[in-house]
Amino acid sequence: MFRRTFSSLALRRVFITPRSLPQRQSILRPLSVDALEQSRKPLSRKAVDSYLTSNVLDLLSLKGRTVVITGAGRGIGLALAFAVAEAGGKVAIVDAADAPHEHYAKLQDICEEVRYYKSDVTDYERLEATFADIAKDFGRIDGIVTAAGICPDEPFLERKPQSVKRTFEINSLGTYYSAQLAARQMLKQPKLTPTSNAGSIVFIASIAAHTASLGQYTSDYCSSKGAVLSLSRQLSVELARPGIRVNCISPGYIVTDMVLDIADSRPRLSDIFVSEPPMKRMGDRTELKGAAVYLLSQASSYMTGGELLITGGMHAGRTE
Ligand SMILES: NC(=O)c1ccc[n+]([C@@H]2O[C@H](COP(=O)([O-])OP(=O)(O)OC[C@H]3O[C@@H](n4cnc5c(N)ncnc54)[C@H](O)[C@@H]3O)[C@@H](O)[C@H]2O)c1
Repeated sequence: MFRRTFSSLALRRVFITPRSLPQRQSILRPLSVDALEQSRKPLSRKAVDSYLTSNVLDLLSLKGRTVVITGAGRGIGLALAFAVAEAGGKVAIVDAADAPHEHYAKLQDICEEVRYYKSDVTDYERLEATFADIAKDFGRIDGIVTAAGICPDEPFLERKPQSVKRTFEINSLGTYYSAQLAARQMLKQPKLTPTSNAGSIVFIASIAAHTASLGQYTSDYCSSKGAVLSLSRQLSVELARPGIRVNCISPGYIVTDMVLDIADSRPRLSDIFVSEPPMKRMGDRTELKGAAVYLLSQASSYMTGGELLITGGMHAGRTE
C-alpha cells in the first residue's frame, strides 16, 4: 500500500507540468518523448566552454547600465554609488536629504552620468514620480540598491507607535516600494543585451535580520530588516521568470555617520562595535563596493535569492 502511494506521488512529481495543472484529466499525462529528450539534452560543448571567452572583468563591468541607489546622499549608499560609477555605470541617487554629502562633487567627476533626486521612499506617489523622472532622464533602469534606512536606539518598552511606524515605513515599506517601481521599469524596457537579465535588485538588509544587536535597543530596526530579507527571498522566486534577480547585502558594523551618531550617544557601544566581530574591527564602506558591483553585474547572473553577509565574521560567531 505504502509503495503504491509513494510511486503514485513520485509519478505525479515526474509527470506534472505547470500547464497541465488546471486540467484534472491531464494530471498524469506523461511528457512527450520529445519533450523529455529535450529536457535531458546534454549541454553543447560550446556552452560548457564559454568560460574561456568570458573575461571576469568584462562580466563585472556595469558599462551602459543605470543603477538607482536609495539613501545614497551619504553613507553606504554613497560609497556604492562610487562603486557603480567606477565599474562604468550611471547612477540615479534618491534621498530625502536636501543635498548630498560634499563627496557627491567627486562622484560627478568620475561618473559617466549621475543625478540627485530629492524624494522620500515612504511617500509612494512622490516616489513614483521620481522613478518616472529617472526613466525619462536615463532611458532605463538596470539595477537598484536600496540603502535608505534609519536605526533608532531606544528600549522596546519605551517606544512610541509613531516612531516604530516610521522605522518600518522607511526600512521595510520604502524598500518594497522602491523595488516595485524599479522592477516595473525593468520589465517595460528592452534587455540591455540578448544574454543579460532584465535587472538586478540589491537590498541592503543587515546582520540585525539574523541576530539581536548586543547592547543596542533596536527592536524595530531588527524586525524591519528581517522583513527586507524575507522580501528578497519571495521576490527572487516571483521575479525569476521575468528575469529580475533579487539579492541582499547584509553588513555588520560599518563606519558611517549613522553608526557614529549611535556610538556618540552611548560610548559603550564603540567597544562593542570593535570587539564583537571575530575580525576585531568595524568594516569600512569600501569593503561593500565589490559585493554591490558583483550583484548588479553579469558576474552574478545565476545568483538570486542570496545574501552576502559582510560582517567581519560576526554572523558565524561572536567573540569576547
Ligand atoms: N552602517 C552600518 O553599520 C550598517 C549595518 C547594517 C546595515 N546598514 C544599513 O545600510 C543602510 C545605509 O546605512 P548608513 O549607515 O549608510 O546610514 P546613513 O544614515 O549614513 O545613510 C542613510 C541615508 O538614507 C537616507 N534616508 C533616510 N530616510 C529616507 C527616506 N525616507 N527617503 C529617502 N532617503 C532616506 C538619509 O538621508 C541618508 O542619506 C541602511 O539601510 C542601514 O540600515 C548599515
